[in-house]
Amino acid sequence: MNCDLLAVLAVFCCCCALSADARAARLRSRPLDNSDTWNNVMVMAKHAQAQDRDHETRLIPVISSDKLKDGDVCCATVKILDYYLRHILDGQAREDGQHHYPRLHLVKPDLHRVARDLEPHCNSKRADMEHLQTFTQNLKRAGEMYKNKTKAQNKAIGETDILFHYLYESCRATSTS
Ligand SMILES: *[C@@H]1O[C@H](CO)[C@@H](O)[C@H](O)[C@H]1NC(C)=O
Repeated sequence: MNCDLLAVLAVFCCCCALSADARAARLRSRPLDNSDTWNNVMVMAKHAQAQDRDHETRLIPVISSDKLKDGDVCCATVKILDYYLRHILDGQAREDGQHHYPRLHLVKPDLHRVARDLEPHCNSKRADMEHLQTFTQNLKRAGEMYKNKTKAQNKAIGETDILFHYLYESCRATSTS
């Protein structure tokens, strides 16, 4: 009798552990750990950087590595990712112009997947929006400074590697924010 009870308890505990594991795993998006995705992001970003003459300006706000590892900036970086997908990478989808970015067609679906995987875990807290607001202000100012929105967007594409690195560091499996 006691043994049966122990066995049931053991199974029960086992199930708890497993389901906790499954929940944590869902907070990690697969493309973040995929070396092909990393490589494609790098190739695309380097191409954009090579066309960029302004080495002073930075659009994505700097986040310290301590802050990245804390785990509470994942959703803030996801908001920036969302903006990239809606306003920057989609605008460059046309292959008609001089702005044809290599690997963009591979990077986009992977980034869409990251956004889709992580978005459900993010509620729109005010704190999450601050980094996005800083980014969009920087982007707007750069466009005004260059008198050319396309150049500012090119700079943003050149920072995709920073964004991806931030997502990789901040959206850990154990992160819940
Ligand atoms: C803006 O920049 C792009 C890329 O550098 C260039 O091709 C385009 O001619 C520029 N547009 C204007 C209005 O200067």
